[in-house]
Amino acid sequence: MDKVLAYLKQNQQRFLAEFCDYLRFPSVSAQPKHKQDVYACAEWLVAHCRRIGLETRLCPTGGHPIVIAKTPGRKAESGKRKPHFMVYGHYDVQPPEPLELWKSPPFEPRIVGKTIFARGSTDNKGQNFAHLKAVEAYLKTGTPLPCDLTFVIEGEEEVGSENLSAFLKTNKQELDCEAVVISDTGMPSTKHPSLGYSLRGIMAFEITLHGPARDLHSGGFGGAVDNPAMALSQLLGSLRDKNGRITIPGFYDGVKPLTAYERKEYSRLPGSDAALQKMIGVKKLFGERGFTSSEQRSARPTFEINGLTSGYQGEGSKTIIPSWARAKITCRLVPDQQPEHIRKKVLAHLKHICPPTVRMEIEAGHGAEAYFVSPTGPKAQASLRALEKAFGCKPILTREGGSIPIVNQFKKILGADSLLLGLGLPDDAAHSPNEKFSLDCFEKGQLMSAYLWQELK
Ligand code: BES
Ligand code: ZN
Repeated sequence: MDKVLAYLKQNQQRFLAEFCDYLRFPSVSAQPKHKQDVYACAEWLVAHCRRIGLETRLCPTGGHPIVIAKTPGRKAESGKRKPHFMVYGHYDVQPPEPLELWKSPPFEPRIVGKTIFARGSTDNKGQNFAHLKAVEAYLKTGTPLPCDLTFVIEGEEEVGSENLSAFLKTNKQELDCEAVVISDTGMPSTKHPSLGYSLRGIMAFEITLHGPARDLHSGGFGGAVDNPAMALSQLLGSLRDKNGRITIPGFYDGVKPLTAYERKEYSRLPGSDAALQKMIGVKKLFGERGFTSSEQRSARPTFEINGLTSGYQGEGSKTIIPSWARAKITCRLVPDQQPEHIRKKVLAHLKHICPPTVRMEIEAGHGAEAYFVSPTGPKAQASLRALEKAFGCKPILTREGGSIPIVNQFKKILGADSLLLGLGLPDDAAHSPNEKFSLDCFEKGQLMSAYLWQELK
């Protein structure tokens, strides 16, 4: 282990230069104009994995390719095998817009002190690169790895991992593993490294209210015709009461209540509501009564408008009754809610309250169950020891508010649980302008990964 640790220490500068190369690819999976850039990023990753000694291949899919990289020498006979783990990550990134809010261009990494700014730095290139560097340290120092590892780094996480499930099914035997290690979440602070044991699920849809066949003069018709934008605002506004509860009958069906133990663990989290309020720049926090903000953000379901469009959006004024109004909605779900059950309840309620003056159209979107795994097993304990060794303090257990839908498929198809060892910090600005990653997290993440294989063996 000493050689591994020394190698990591000696090579940080080069790692940082390589990390910058990785970040320079605008691998935006959602935007067709970046298809070639996504591909080029995958090719770079393949070349890089080969250079550090992994057996690597690029796997085309109907969408963006998947990178598979394996530690060499996995024995064929099961009796002689070492434990096998998958390390999952993604090289695709969210769109960088709005560009004018970036202090430096999103794909030109900028280092300020111990922080690196770039789209994809925390979500997820920095986090998966930390694991690659730890494995490089083993391979380049000739230190035997106690486990066989297969990296699965995909290019479609930010658009719903559409092609990964089929890939898991076709390559089930090769990917059969003890557990999946994922660093694609966060920790409360570097003094509070954490093992995540839950992720929220999601249910997405779009609602459009159609009014008049075309935009109308609001002077000539206003007063006698329903305004779809008003109707949509009223409809959506009625879905939340003053206590922050969603009013849709059945919306809380299946919600697993927090245990006393979990609430105690939540109370150990650092930070205050005042600090949170300041960090995100709101006047005052708002959430479901009876739960702390940390609980609201990870253990309770939500109904969010992600986009709202209607009428004239250009300069100046225009006096019309718009012909339609549309909202993009996602609900975050928690264990043990069923996305399709909640979808039914939500749609039934919307139909019920939709006024007869407009026509409602619903387009269903993606859905995924929440994830929950008991953090008491031996692999979770091994992860906690690796975190403690790397970060030098006692880790905590956390529920995560975001979603990684593919973890459910890891469980269903491969029977494997996921160990969520997030390296991001709360102010990393994932999906936002000026996304960043702490170089401290990058370095300690490498240590965590290096220790993890010793602890998991
Ligand atoms: N890394 C995030 C997921 C995440 C972030 C989980 C923070 C927990 C804490 C991932 O890249 C992501 O953004 N996932 C999407 C999934 C969605 C598109 C289905 C999300 O959560 O919005
Ligand atoms: Zn993301």
